[in-house]
Amino acid sequence: MVTIALYNLKGGVGKTAATINLAYLSAKQGYKTLIWDLDPQGSSSFYLGAIASVKNEAKKILTGDMDLATAIQPSAYENLDIIPADLSARHADILLNDMKQSKKKISSILSTIKNEYDIVFLDCPPGISVLHDAVFAGVDWILMPNIPTTLSIRSFESVLNYFKENELDSSKLKCFFSMVDHRKNLHHEVINEFYKDKLFFKSYIPYLSDVEKMGVHESPLETFAASSFAAQCYKDLWKEIKQRCIN
Ligand SMILES: Nc1ncnc2c1ncn2[C@@H]1O[C@H](COP(=O)(O)OP(=O)(O)O)[C@@H](O)[C@H]1O
Ligand SMILES: [Mg+2]
Repeated sequence: MVTIALYNLKGGVGKTAATINLAYLSAKQGYKTLIWDLDPQGSSSFYLGAIASVKNEAKKILTGDMDLATAIQPSAYENLDIIPADLSARHADILLNDMKQSKKKISSILSTIKNEYDIVFLDCPPGISVLHDAVFAGVDWILMPNIPTTLSIRSFESVLNYFKENELDSSKLKCFFSMVDHRKNLHHEVINEFYKDKLFFKSYIPYLSDVEKMGVHESPLETFAASSFAAQCYKDLWKEIKQRCIN
């Protein structure tokens, strides 16, 4: 089982759009795939039409009152399951803070399903907190979408510094550019500068209205715009992720 967290310190950078589209492609190619929605906003859950089945489900999973396997729900798509988020996920930090060995929590919870799935995507809330420390320690890969603007790159650098200062394994970090606007010179300049860095995948996701339409269709891009440029961009990205992180 390979575990990939979609993460950024910043919100609104395309983490959830990537989670849904990459997980869909993974499932379509026959990998048994799970999305664990860790963001109390529940956007991944919304796109797949999943609602937590019991009250305070996210909280119960973290405290061990509910097995992860019990929380798993099938999606409308073959090979793709989801653990939906609910608002109780907003307490994740406080809960983990009070726990012994909190950094090992995500890893130990994930290990209970390690024989059931090939690939697990964790859709993370933005921020850097105790929950994120547990995610960083517990997953194989941390996949960061970055918008090529000054503030986004600042947050990327903050994350790198955080990894250094806390002696975290930065070899787990992989990045791609997201919401790229070709009309903006700044985007090109930032991208060219950062491509020197091996952390970044060559494939990137442009700013395209088809991605936004996922909210209207409440489904992955491939299901309503399979031949679109946006869908092709996620396919290219997925191919590169597979080459570097899965195979
Ligand atoms: N490549 C893109 N082009 C256009 N809109 C996008 C793109 N990626 C995401 N969006 C839109 O931007 C908003 C934030 O994206 P989302 O994936 O939810 O970000 P995050 O999970 O990082 O907060 C959503 O409304 C989404 O539809
Ligand atoms: Mg999100």
